[in-house]
Amino acid sequence: MERWRKHKFLLHGMHAEVSTRKKTFAEVQTERLDQAERTVLIKCPSKLNEKKLLQYLSSHGNVKSHFFFENRGISALIEFSEKSSIASLQDAVGIPDVSEHHVVPFKSRLFTFTLKNPVSQRMEETPLHLSPQCHIPVKDLIQKLCLADSISGQMYVLLNEHQLTEENIKLRFLACSLVRDFARAYFPDSTVKPFGSSVNTFGKLGSDVDMFLDFHDTGKHATKMKKGPFEMEYQMKRLPSERLATQRILSVIGDCLDNFGPGCVNVQKILNARCPLVKFCHQPTGFQCDLSVSNSIAIRSSELLYIYGCLDSRVRALVFTVRCWARVHGLTNSAPGTWITNFSLTMMVMFFLQKRSPPIIPTLDQLKELADEKDKHIIGGYDCSFVSDLRKIKPTKNTETLDVLLGEFFEYFGNFDFRKNSINLRKGKEVNKPESSPLYIWNPFEQDLNISKNVNQPQLEKFIAMARESAWILQKEDKTQQMINKEPWGLAALLIPFGKSNSSRMKNRMKGIGSETIKSLLDSLKLNNANSQQKAVGK
Ligand code: GTP
Ligand code: MG
Repeated sequence: MERWRKHKFLLHGMHAEVSTRKKTFAEVQTERLDQAERTVLIKCPSKLNEKKLLQYLSSHGNVKSHFFFENRGISALIEFSEKSSIASLQDAVGIPDVSEHHVVPFKSRLFTFTLKNPVSQRMEETPLHLSPQCHIPVKDLIQKLCLADSISGQMYVLLNEHQLTEENIKLRFLACSLVRDFARAYFPDSTVKPFGSSVNTFGKLGSDVDMFLDFHDTGKHATKMKKGPFEMEYQMKRLPSERLATQRILSVIGDCLDNFGPGCVNVQKILNARCPLVKFCHQPTGFQCDLSVSNSIAIRSSELLYIYGCLDSRVRALVFTVRCWARVHGLTNSAPGTWITNFSLTMMVMFFLQKRSPPIIPTLDQLKELADEKDKHIIGGYDCSFVSDLRKIKPTKNTETLDVLLGEFFEYFGNFDFRKNSINLRKGKEVNKPESSPLYIWNPFEQDLNISKNVNQPQLEKFIAMARESAWILQKEDKTQQMINKEPWGLAALLIPFGKSNSSRMKNRMKGIGSETIKSLLDSLKLNNANSQQKAVGK
């Protein structure tokens, strides 16, 4: 009974979360960026009186929200109600007096709070609640999963453990806002916005922060100037290509972060990549960051995934589960290589959900049909329009449980004809592969690109073998018996590396993949044989 209630509560919680998330992607972004501009980060002594700190801060303005977290010591994120409070605080704080170093006098929104008389002040310490910024280890997760009462329940437990928290999202936006302060030293109109999994509803605690520099406001300015009987425009440096401009801007901002950014370390400029970027570690927030220059297509991808993630609570639960499963079995890797990326994997889950009957999420073409004038986006000649208002999308009639969907996902991709077919989310249909890459997933917006071009045949085969093995484990499993034996069951069983006892079976499954035709021939022979045997018995 208790378990049932917990599960119900959890499901109820998920729905509540979804229903409060009806804001458009742009609304969420604007709100969060505004919040981040009113926020500061303070490094604190490990023990302090929370009330006294807040009292001190409130002399500069109302503190709207705050939390403490651990990251190389204790830090506090403080959100003021008004932006002006930050200027007031900045006026009151001093510059460090360090004899053996010379400080770079860049005044940011990162401060250090110390106690003048630690001995007497220690008496007033209060225990601090620390908000966790990373997820529990897989082995602890597996134990928790075993306490759930269904695979669906397990998938929601996993989602709750891995998804970004409100606090972590605030920190991510703050990291962007702090980088923006540097960019504005050169480009006062610029902003720095997060994209990728920080904002697409599929972010996991511990994932990197992808951010881009946006000069959009400068563009708006240009249209205003064209009104009237004459025209004025800025004199600007002209360069032979957009790529070169991007490289130069990123190079300078990268140097700035490296030389003057408090806590910006391991700054790497990767300017010759297809998409030039600056990688760095932002120690005050604890994030690994990737900074690039406005990439409209990547932003559209983030918004598209945001929409899919908000439509039905099963979407995120399935994506988080599949991503975690893939990581455990070494199908994905944080280093770039021939592995399937989390982005491709997410697209595969979306495609699978489009293919259910009735579909759980609409195709991109259907979302495009619902778009209105303000949703129109043509980027580099590609029509990237789709509806932004979530209320315009009809809820699905599909009522399949996640228990069913997880098994079907593995079954579907374990038997997908990757040699012949490609995955197309715009149409929600398998399409003949236009070229011979082992795994072909159409870029939803730049229709002539494959987002999984990096995946090689052995990696794809490993994915198929793992999917087949997982489908098989879910099918054969006897939950009651496993619970009695205290063995991991359901999702927990899928998150344990398939051990030695499975290796020979795995090999057989792997072997089968390279020769699909032979395998199906053998299967049909077996079937025929069984039929004829039956007939023989019947006779
Ligand atoms: P995690 O960081 O693994 O949690 O997921 P992510 O979605 O943030 O992936 P990643 O950091 O690798 O990439 C950030 C964003 O860049 C993605 O969300 C996509 O919008 C975009 N992106 C990444 N890889 C590709 C790709 O191969 N093709 C295209 N078109 N976009 C990509
Ligand atoms: Mg990312």
